Amino acid sequence: MRSLLPPSVAVFEAYEDTPGAFMYPAETGSLARAVHKRRLEYTTVRHCARQALAELGLPPAPILSGARGEPLWPDGILGSMTHCDGYRAAALTRKGAIASLGIDGEPHEPLPQVVLEAVARPEEHQYLAEWSHERPGICWDRLLFSAKESVYKAWFPLTRQWLGFEDAVVRFAPQAGTFTAALHVPGPETGGAPPTVLCGRWQVRDGLILTSVVVPAWPVPDRP
Ligand SMILES: CC(C)(COP(=O)(O)OP(=O)(O)OC[C@H]1O[C@@H](n2cnc3c(N)ncnc32)[C@H](O)[C@@H]1OP(=O)(O)O)[C@@H](O)C(=O)NCCC(=O)NCCS
Repeated sequence: MRSLLPPSVAVFEAYEDTPGAFMYPAETGSLARAVHKRRLEYTTVRHCARQALAELGLPPAPILSGARGEPLWPDGILGSMTHCDGYRAAALTRKGAIASLGIDGEPHEPLPQVVLEAVARPEEHQYLAEWSHERPGICWDRLLFSAKESVYKAWFPLTRQWLGFEDAVVRFAPQAGTFTAALHVPGPETGGAPPTVLCGRWQVRDGLILTSVVVPAWPVPDRP
């Protein structure tokens, strides 16, 4: 995930659950009815987030969830988390040049057809065939799903609104490892003209699909 995000973003990944990772008492409240697997991924991904906070020079802190499942970050921080079988990751940055970001990890396996029908717009079905022809061996359907999940995780903190799978059209650059998501709804507020397209990066490695979306803040603050 590190290579899919700008250097100002602290990224921490785990490929198995971390022995000794702990939860704050405030965090355990949302896990009252959670199964063991959910407790493990929740704890490990928050361990990743606290490592990323440390990289940003910040002390460990509880990471609670908002009413729609969104992570609630310490003041001045934004970020995103993901977990799937064999992978947990957190990506955090200080507020400034980036307005929002989303990350997603998925197993590199075909998406069940019934899920694909819910995720892909008609034009995306055609693109899937083109991408498969250009770069066979990649589960483009699962990649499409992951890209849209990253879009949603970046979108929600800016808008606090639902964004359906039908509300964005994703186009991958199969060789470049990038993608665009053209929004079919008004874009999020980022300080300037709302973007109509969100941009992301993708990678397939070690049996995993990884995607990221970064929404720049506008105007971009001056760099020293
Ligand atoms: C919320 C959602 C994106 C999570 O994705 P997922 O693949 O199921 O699960 P992941 O493990 O990758 O991510 C889970 C993490 O996402 C984060 N998350 C959950 N809801 C979120 C939201 N509304 N906004 C931002 N991040 C959110 C949380 O950190 C969560 O982990 P946690 O519960 O341990 O804190 C997904 O369940 C969902 O609701 N998708 C439908 C909306 C969508 O994708 N639209 C497509 C628009 S083009």
